[in-house]
Amino acid sequence: MFKQLAISAVAAFTLATGAMAAGDTGHKIHDVDFSFEGPFGAFDQNQLQRGLQVYTEVCSACHGLKFVPLRTLVDEGGPHLPADQVRAYASQFDIYDAALDEDVPRKPSDFFPNSSLENAPDLSLMAKGRAGFHGPYGLGINQFVKGIGGAEYITAVLTGYTGEEKVQAGTTFYENTAFPGGWIAMAPPLYGEDVEFADGHSNELHHEAEDVSAFLMWTAEPKMMARKQAGFVGVLILTLLSVLLYLTNKRLWAPHKKKKH
Ligand code: HEC
Repeated sequence: MFKQLAISAVAAFTLATGAMAAGDTGHKIHDVDFSFEGPFGAFDQNQLQRGLQVYTEVCSACHGLKFVPLRTLVDEGGPHLPADQVRAYASQFDIYDAALDEDVPRKPSDFFPNSSLENAPDLSLMAKGRAGFHGPYGLGINQFVKGIGGAEYITAVLTGYTGEEKVQAGTTFYENTAFPGGWIAMAPPLYGEDVEFADGHSNELHHEAEDVSAFLMWTAEPKMMARKQAGFVGVLILTLLSVLLYLTNKRLWAPHKKKKH
């Protein structure tokens, strides 16, 4: 009897969570199988380089990455560009030098520029600042299963335009199925085939969107791989410790637990 009750309770719960997951918040955000997800996930160096290219050629016209040091583009586990390329890359952005009282090219020790458009938010931490998945019932089960979904959210915003526009108080808004509220002040930045990837990868809209989202995940959490590695080593050591403690415990109590024959 109790067992049946338990089973039907579990079934009801599963159904309810499934329904909530499908309905969710009404935004159309799809799970993307990013390489950096899961306990052993790692950034895909080529994808980060493509994402950097999309950011540089398209997004940087409006959005800054002011918390990201240019030199980190060299980092292993990140885009891992050669140092001379990063020096050349940095020099395309100017920075004001107070001593010379003029703008000079940036060096790898400088940061990416600020947003150049006033109402365009800085993107450095955007992938960690947004969630793609929620619920059900505030339990966070969807996030546990699919991940927080910051990168998925950005992908969904970039691919979620319906083509509808409206002008309100002098500002044009574009209908977007992923942006909360449904109308965003950012004109569709990507249409597909906006950039020509150096590695010959497909530049269809969803590829460009996923690549730049992966890149923004890296800017938001550049040490993700180190974190996962440290976590794994931690779990391994704790597992070993548990086994040793169990055996120690057995050994300590053995004299007091003599088998009765
Ligand atoms: C022409 C300027 C412009 C370009 C180019 C542009 N954006 Fe935006 N973006 C904006 C503005 C303005 C907003 C603020 C929109 C709002 O709050 O309604 C915005 C908002 C965003 C947001 C925040 C959404 C949120 O949840 O607050 C993301 C993410 C974003 N842009 C990503 C990108 C990416 C990635 C690119 C390059 C592929 C890009 N943008 C290119 C102007 C631009």
